[in-house]
Amino acid sequence: MSSKIYDCIELIGNRIIENKEFLTELDREIGDADHGINMARGFTEVLNVLDKDSEDIGALLKKTGMTLLSKVGGASGPLYGTAYMQAGKVCAGKTELSAEDGKEIFEAVIAGIQKRGKAEKGEKTMLDAIIPAYESYSTAIENGVSAEEALGIMCVAAEDGVEFTKTIIATKGRASYLGERSIGHQDPGATSATITMEAIRDFVKG
Ligand SMILES: Nc1ncnc2c1ncn2[C@@H]1O[C@H](COP(=O)(O)OP(=O)(O)OP(=O)(O)O)[C@@H](O)[C@H]1O
Ligand SMILES: [Mg+2]
Repeated sequence: MSSKIYDCIELIGNRIIENKEFLTELDREIGDADHGINMARGFTEVLNVLDKDSEDIGALLKKTGMTLLSKVGGASGPLYGTAYMQAGKVCAGKTELSAEDGKEIFEAVIAGIQKRGKAEKGEKTMLDAIIPAYESYSTAIENGVSAEEALGIMCVAAEDGVEFTKTIIATKGRASYLGERSIGHQDPGATSATITMEAIRDFVKG
């Protein structure tokens, strides 16, 4: 019997793999046309190596992070790798998660990405989806909203964050070489991060 955590990572992986061309096209416009290819390669390997029967959320997230770190490459490999490994640390020994755990995971993920990539909100990176998503999710949870509803609110904020990346200049990563010409294009990493959060929302919704 497969555990829930594997099924959730499988859904994330399949959504990333389905969006390989789309993510690569976005990266063609402001980068080097490899984001979808990188991420799909990473998640194909993740789905190969994960133990489907393990219920240890921390262990599976950690292994996901280590696999992404070694297989994705580029800027996003270390950033996503760190994000999943930090999430795994928060979830060490856990076999289920509360809405409050979700908040702690978000905090660890953002801290990990920022430690590694030194970006702030507003630099046209994945953080422009993840930070607003975290803020909306936390506010919702603090206001006593159900986990399922909070995940819906989180995704709306992430999607708005992706829209926002179209309006700003990239100041981190390869897209920063384009300067003003990066305006008008949505950030590939913010897009893959939003696809990830939508998969989590849909998984929890069932
Ligand atoms: N410092 C950073 N902090 C957060 N996210 C970043 C940073 N630098 C880049 N990114 C994210 O990574 C995405 C690009 O990922 P991709 O897989 O295409 O790597 P890459 O830029 O091609 O790497 P490289 O230039 O090393 O080949 C961007 O869209 C952006 O969201
Ligand atoms: Mg790229």
